[in-house]
Amino acid sequence: MNVLVTGGAGYIGSHTCVELIEAGHLPIVIDNLSNSSAKSLQRVQEITGKAVPFYEGDVRDEALLDKIFAEHAIDCAIHFAGLKAVGESVAKPLEYYENNLCATMTLCRVLAKHGVKRIIFSSSATVYSGDNEMPLRESSKTGNCTNPYGWTKYMGEQILRDIAKADPEWSVVNLRYFNPVGAHESGKIGEHPNGIPNNLMPFISQTAIGKRDHLNVFGNDYPTPDGTGVRDYIHVVDLAKGHVAAIDYLMRHTGEGVFNLGTGHGYSVLDMVHAFEEANGVRVPYEIAPRRPGDLPTCYADPSKSREVLGWEATHDQNDMCRDSWRWQSWNPNGYDE
Ligand code: NAD
Ligand code: UD1
Repeated sequence: MNVLVTGGAGYIGSHTCVELIEAGHLPIVIDNLSNSSAKSLQRVQEITGKAVPFYEGDVRDEALLDKIFAEHAIDCAIHFAGLKAVGESVAKPLEYYENNLCATMTLCRVLAKHGVKRIIFSSSATVYSGDNEMPLRESSKTGNCTNPYGWTKYMGEQILRDIAKADPEWSVVNLRYFNPVGAHESGKIGEHPNGIPNNLMPFISQTAIGKRDHLNVFGNDYPTPDGTGVRDYIHVVDLAKGHVAAIDYLMRHTGEGVFNLGTGHGYSVLDMVHAFEEANGVRVPYEIAPRRPGDLPTCYADPSKSREVLGWEATHDQNDMCRDSWRWQSWNPNGYDE
């Protein structure tokens, strides 16, 4: 299968390119490199031995998408491209709505024009309303997003759902990711956030390597076993394999499918700190800090629908996540920069 991968040079996209190639597919990447480096794709080639066709440009550039369709017989698209920093989305809402929603709409228009009505969309657990009981099922309540980034995911799903409703030839899969962490076990590709990391795992590994002097643990008075926030961390390679499973589903079904990609296990912030220290023999100094506004106490998936319908489930454990994050961080302290 020839798979158009938007945002394929990014963190999850590059790992998915590896798994697509391992499964016998050909990823064709478009990325404007606004939050990534083309070196990630060279590393994908080092891992797999296969070159990935790459187009540098914006998904909103319809002429560029037409050129890609003219040069490759595309079978379906995986749409990773988007801006993803929650705090930045609050400061720059227009940029987020413009980038994330216009890219999705342009891509769908071009897919339909070329008769390829198949798309997998990177959604997020952030679309679930904060007042649900755990674990979150695909049928749990959505909405009440707390920031523009979350709304772009909510609206992106809705746009695709409406397209699939209007035209029965469309096949749409909305994948709701929980908390992707870790890196490819080769240590060649991983996550390298610009500036100070917002997310827990990159902050832990940058603290362990001495780039940050300590981790701030945002709140220890939540109604959780140790008082710190609980999340469903999922190894990025498991997440990537979820996309391969979703392609099989996409080729066999029309309409909309929505699936959680999580493990079903919740770990607290301190669980993650201690697991990281133990897996890697390093220290992660931390201090208890005030709660971060907008955070939920607990968030984890019920992944049973993905297991039953997609035949997919996560196989990497917390130790794998910690070990692989550290291997990537310690071998590439500056990410893809020399
Ligand atoms: P990332 O920033 O590493 O990857 C996104 C890629 O898209 C980047 O390479 C960026 O350069 C590119 N891009 C952005 N806008 C573009 C545009 N208009 N045209 C072309 N390229 C563009 O992020 P990631 O962590 O790999 O996330 C991939 C997707 O998964 C995103 O849509 C994100 O919102 C979603 N997601 C991520 C997480 C997470 O924790 N990482 C959780 C849930 C959902
Ligand atoms: C965040 C985003 C969410 C996005 C997800 C992707 C917010 C409010 N939500 O979710 O929209 O889909 O990332 O992975 O930003 N923590 C610390 N110290 C830190 C960083 C985090 O204690 O320096 C804690 C948080 O309070 C939370 C847990 O670690 O309890 C995980 O945080 P994070 O990695 O930012 O993910 P989420 O908040 O789940």
